[in-house]
Amino acid sequence: MKFTLAILTTLVAAAAARQSKPFHLKAVSDNSTVDGTYFFACHEGAAIEGLCIGSKKLAQADNFRLNNTRSQPNVGSLAWLLKGGNFKVSETMTLYTDPSTNVALPLFEPGYDSAYVGFDSDDKMYIRVYLDDTKNPPNSVNGKKLYRWLTCTTYYTGYTYQTLAWQLGEAEAQNPTCEPVTVKRVFVNDD
Ligand SMILES: *[C@@H]1O[C@H](CO)[C@@H](O)[C@H](O)[C@H]1NC(C)=O
Ligand SMILES: *[C@@H]1O[C@H](CO)[C@@H](O)[C@H](O)[C@H]1NC(C)=O
Repeated sequence: MKFTLAILTTLVAAAAARQSKPFHLKAVSDNSTVDGTYFFACHEGAAIEGLCIGSKKLAQADNFRLNNTRSQPNVGSLAWLLKGGNFKVSETMTLYTDPSTNVALPLFEPGYDSAYVGFDSDDKMYIRVYLDDTKNPPNSVNGKKLYRWLTCTTYYTGYTYQTLAWQLGEAEAQNPTCEPVTVKRVFVNDD
């Protein structure tokens, strides 16, 4: 009986640990400099990467994957592989918040809770949320899709870049450089 349970647990763990095929993240924006570019992981500290605005050439874009489940292949955590000289570490995207701003920074860091992202039927990336505090009383919602992506000039531990960012809440971003952006998944060799 114990043996069966052990096998079952292993099978469940194996089923849970799935990864999508690699894809690029493409920016769709009203700003012609940003529109059609691909995001790439850029250094924001030791083993910490943000998502910088890259070029319009796919070669310079990084590959990302979605750590997902069999039952929900289009939701999970956005994963990126940090490669060093003699190591590889899988990191997932988290939203870094700072009390001074309503703009959160997506960062890949080892060992942090990931943001729960998804891709809709148009391959647009969203974040799944479970809280609505815009009403009295605040209530839980069942995995609502939010698309509050921005491109902004951001500052993190000494690094200033043009990066992907996230608007926290309904109010407009206080960072004056922010512009709305749509993030689209483009599978590798698919464009
Ligand atoms: C993402 O999934 C892959 C494949 O299952 C796994 O090797 C990797 O450790 C996962 N990444 C994280 C940060 O959990
Ligand atoms: C377009 O985006 C670029 C790069 O982020 C930025 O430097 C520029 O100010 C933006 N243009 C407008 C009109 O906002």
